[in-house]
Amino acid sequence: MPRISEETIRRVADATDIVELVGSYFPLKRAGSAWKALCPFHNEKTPSFQVTPARQSFHCFGCGAGGGVFRFVMDYEHIPFTEAVRRLASKSGIPVIEEAGGSHDDRAHEIRRRLLAIHARASEWFHENLMKSPEADEARQYLKSRGISSPVAKSWQIGFAPDSWDALTDFLKAQKFTNQEIVQSGLVSSKEDSDSSSGRFYARFRGRVMFPIRNDFGEVIAFSGRVLEAEAKTAKYVNSPETPLFNKGRVLYGLDKSKRALIDAKEAIVCEGQLDTISAFEAGVKNVIAPQGTAFTHDQARLLSRFVESVVLCFDSDKAGQEATSRSLPALLECGLTVKVARLPAGSDPDSLIRSEGPEAFRAATASAKDFFDHAIDRTIEAGVLSDPAKTAAATRKLGGFVELISDPVTRDLVIGKICSRFGVNHEAFKAQLRRSKPKGFAQQDSSGEKDVEPPLPLSEGMKVLCRHALMDPESRSWLAENGALRAGEIEEGGLLLQHIVACGAKLEEPGQLGVFVASLPSKLERALASLDTGRTQDELLQTTQEWWLAIAAPSIRSKLQAAILRLRSGNSDPSSQRALREEIQALTDQLKAFVK
Ligand code: CTP
Ligand code: MN
Repeated sequence: MPRISEETIRRVADATDIVELVGSYFPLKRAGSAWKALCPFHNEKTPSFQVTPARQSFHCFGCGAGGGVFRFVMDYEHIPFTEAVRRLASKSGIPVIEEAGGSHDDRAHEIRRRLLAIHARASEWFHENLMKSPEADEARQYLKSRGISSPVAKSWQIGFAPDSWDALTDFLKAQKFTNQEIVQSGLVSSKEDSDSSSGRFYARFRGRVMFPIRNDFGEVIAFSGRVLEAEAKTAKYVNSPETPLFNKGRVLYGLDKSKRALIDAKEAIVCEGQLDTISAFEAGVKNVIAPQGTAFTHDQARLLSRFVESVVLCFDSDKAGQEATSRSLPALLECGLTVKVARLPAGSDPDSLIRSEGPEAFRAATASAKDFFDHAIDRTIEAGVLSDPAKTAAATRKLGGFVELISDPVTRDLVIGKICSRFGVNHEAFKAQLRRSKPKGFAQQDSSGEKDVEPPLPLSEGMKVLCRHALMDPESRSWLAENGALRAGEIEEGGLLLQHIVACGAKLEEPGQLGVFVASLPSKLERALASLDTGRTQDELLQTTQEWWLAIAAPSIRSKLQAAILRLRSGNSDPSSQRALREEIQALTDQLKAFVK
């Protein structure tokens, strides 16, 4: 498999700024010369994730994640190095030049790349069909009846899958995708395991309106297809299966479009499905996303918590909608989000409300959304539990389960106060009930938060200073190179990092080289580098460098010198090794002298 040329990597690193890059995923707050945010790689309440432009790297003081621009994209998107380079290259419009040969272990990346290409082509093809094909006449009528104009269809790349078993397969084959790739995309299934020999491929989506599902990067990774007939015999929606690209529990529909608005509003309007999201967005409520008919997973909640502080759930007012609300709650509360619930008129969802009453009615419903606990208390009391002590106890126990999940202690206390006063229960009694019912331990189900990270490279204080100076100050770097730091790893383990930095020489000053260098480090060193504090600068960089290097290296040079002298004195070596020993002694003595002059 081809490998990406060093030149391409250099250009991409040069064109990518770490602050802009990370800031394009979630908002960063300035903190001196660095930028801060909640760490995307573990669950936390106060920001320990830091992005430092001077080092073109990020670092989390909490979980130890860290590295350069490529590492960030790799870790955030769960993709291999080459794929990260490709993405950043396409962001900056840099052509990726590949060299033949080279050892490559990232077959997974190649599969991903091909699957993304299939989805992109298929999405265009479905869309073309919808806009032009005579077969799609009914679909066009249907969308029109649902208020979807053709600019809207274009903007969301809505499409139509013809009622055919093999039209898509034929198209994809003509695009030079292999049978295996086509089947792996989940858009088509093969019938290998059946005895029927007629037509080996089956299109998953037939005669359906197609909604491309995109990741937050805007790439199509799956589809959801809706039937046209109101009372169809088949399922109303059919979705792509799980593929190497698509994991339903990690995607929020619409996020690629609504990111900016979410950040601005600090609040997300959460709908159930695609049409609700599109209707709301097009009606001007742009901070909208949908978990697509399922309860929020922890991954989705955490993704969302990078953009907003609160969510307004606009699920259907039916029983299924209520269930979706309470099943979504643990993940949302545990991620520190404030949850509000909008009450929609019975029988309506955001889409139908917007079309029947207009965008203002929907806006009003979201604006008057109540805090989840107020909403839940209202509903429970309306159901008449107050007249029955057993029912009241059951209701407070149920709410207590959610109270346990509130991460902020003050908020939790306020909610407890509210529940007690509305149900007329004594604080102590409610708290006793809380203690008796075990917390749900939702966080334990979360797999992606826990990462097996290697312990970071141990760096002594002096080594930190040296690495920092070597990185920032060319003069210190070249002095260190001349004074033995190219073998700093022999003195202490952390010296390996210094060794790598010093070995870069003046090259590190060339544009883009810092990024290339960071990317070239083994991950243990990359994280150590990212953890350096380069914010503080001193005036006497070279002098401090010399002092520290002396302190670290001199004892080791001295002991080497001593050993060499002893060996020479022992007199039991041949003339040629005696000469070598003398040379070594001279070199070591010169090094020591260099330090003290
Ligand atoms: N959904 C799904 N699979 C189904 C049913 C629903 O994935 N079999 C998801 C879809 O994302 C859908 C959402 O759940 O948009 C909500 O379902 P529902 O309320 O039944 O549909 P609506 O969004 O109201 O769709 P429509 O307005 O087209 O009827
Ligand atoms: Mn609907």
